[in-house]
Amino acid sequence: MQCDNSSLRADAVLGLHGPVTHAQGGAVDFFETIAARYSVRGYKPDSVPDELLDKVLEAARRAPTAANRQPFRLVVVQTRGREEELARVYGRPWFTQAPLVVAVIAVPGEAWRRMDDKPYHEVDAAIAMDHLILAATALGLGTCWIAAFDPAAAREVLGLPDDVEPIAFTPLGWPDKEPRGTGRRPLAELVKRERW
Ligand SMILES: Cc1cc2nc3c(=O)[nH]c(=O)nc-3n(C[C@H](O)[C@H](O)[C@H](O)COP(=O)(O)O)c2cc1C
Repeated sequence: MQCDNSSLRADAVLGLHGPVTHAQGGAVDFFETIAARYSVRGYKPDSVPDELLDKVLEAARRAPTAANRQPFRLVVVQTRGREEELARVYGRPWFTQAPLVVAVIAVPGEAWRRMDDKPYHEVDAAIAMDHLILAATALGLGTCWIAAFDPAAAREVLGLPDDVEPIAFTPLGWPDKEPRGTGRRPLAELVKRERW
């Protein structure tokens, strides 16, 4: 029988025991979550309880969108049994190690447009994905934003109609690989005051 520790870990993230610190009032500390997130490129096969998946999806639903148009959809895929077709979408072996893959799909026809006609569906879809990823991190789950997927394969495998656009994928599961220790530019390089 396959050893499944997911409910133990679910207990941990729900505060019964475990590594995630809860701020006063019971919420997981936001800045701790930001610091804990990394691109997870190795996963345990253990399942993700529906309760946790629902929380992660709800976080994406709550994301702000331009003019509240919500021009995105989330496709949740069980990877078991679909490894071969998913490998056509993104070929790295860890992509299908997690029990779930989530795709964020934009619906351009629903998007708000800026005065110069720039549509915002990609921005909105990206914010939704970021909410999803941070919520997953807060629950102890791993994710990895994937943009380098094959869009044609994604359309076929997910059965997407022509009027929607795949924006990003992520595996969703229990991390089985440590962070690579990626650096960041210093704030002094990123932030300009008053003018460029
Ligand atoms: C828009 C976007 C696209 C990305 N696409 C990929 C990808 O296709 N494959 C991959 O392995 N990582 C991808 N990443 C992950 C980045 O490489 C990673 O976030 C970056 O190197 C910083 O590392 P960290 O996430 O571990 O902090 C992507 C991240 C973002 C935000």
